[in-house]
Amino acid sequence: MLRVNDMLPVVVVHGGAGHIPKDRSEMSTAGVCSAARAGYTILRGGGSSMDAVLEAVSILENNPCFNAGCGSVLNIKGEVEMDAIVMDGLTLGSGAVSAVRNIANPIQLARLVMDKTSHSCLTAEGASQFARSMGVPEVSPESLITEYSHMRWAKNLAPDANPVESQMGKMGTVGAVAVDSEGNIACATSTGGMLNKMEGRVGDTPCIGSGGYADNQVGAVSTTGHGEAIMKVTLARLILFHMEQGQSVEAASDLGLAYMKSRVSGLGGVVSVDPQGRWAARFSSLQMSWAAAQTETLHYGLYVGEHFTQSLGGAPLTGSTAHLASKPLG
Ligand code: GLY
Repeated sequence: MLRVNDMLPVVVVHGGAGHIPKDRSEMSTAGVCSAARAGYTILRGGGSSMDAVLEAVSILENNPCFNAGCGSVLNIKGEVEMDAIVMDGLTLGSGAVSAVRNIANPIQLARLVMDKTSHSCLTAEGASQFARSMGVPEVSPESLITEYSHMRWAKNLAPDANPVESQMGKMGTVGAVAVDSEGNIACATSTGGMLNKMEGRVGDTPCIGSGGYADNQVGAVSTTGHGEAIMKVTLARLILFHMEQGQSVEAASDLGLAYMKSRVSGLGGVVSVDPQGRWAARFSSLQMSWAAAQTETLHYGLYVGEHFTQSLGGAPLTGSTAHLASKPLG
């Protein structure tokens, strides 16, 4: 039997809630598993939870399969505009960027905002100027556009497009939460936002308490889903409120998601941790790709009820449609 302290460290990542097309589901699962492994390697080597979530989310941003960094969805004009946030649970410091266009890894720029400025969020051209002053390499906005994101943008412009189906097909955002061996907690979330959004639209992701929140005294949450709904209920902070009231990490995540569904008809998903390293990956959407790494075991799933495990040493332990991560929400 594991004692609670033996459970640290842990990293949990998501690759976005929504409806992931069948032909992309394997890539999506492989992507979150590789991000969780990379984050865990940092934690296992004694690295910080902040470094672990940064590494995991950077890997997902670099993977064209996800709606963040390269592969971001396009706005109504066919352009990429990305949002990101990081938060440090020890200091409650945070950094965010919104509507950035020519940066490969917005999550790393968000960390620079936290570490090198006295502000919490920089946007658009101001964020680009700050990136230049920090020596962050610029990339061409076209290099962030994939054939797939261009195809979906064009399809959604068609007069007969079904906006709900189109949005659900690409609702994802990427994120991670972690607790390191010192008990420090961090979160990171990054997104291209909503498909065919208005130019200048800023979603939940860079908004503290909505796209993510981390507090060493309570836990951390990274969210994904319909940004306008997430902002209405400040989903990340709402879940942490339920944890403060004594709910388990899993029950608190379900309560927050159920409230968003019943109160504002919003669907989404979260990854959450508490200070002891207990974790949850929960969603009210059809799917959410997620993975967690803890005590030399990789956990992952995509559909409701799925929870596979694999030894981080290599050999599979079990493959089942089991328990913990996702029973249906009411
Ligand atoms: N949750 C991502 C967005 O709505 O922008």
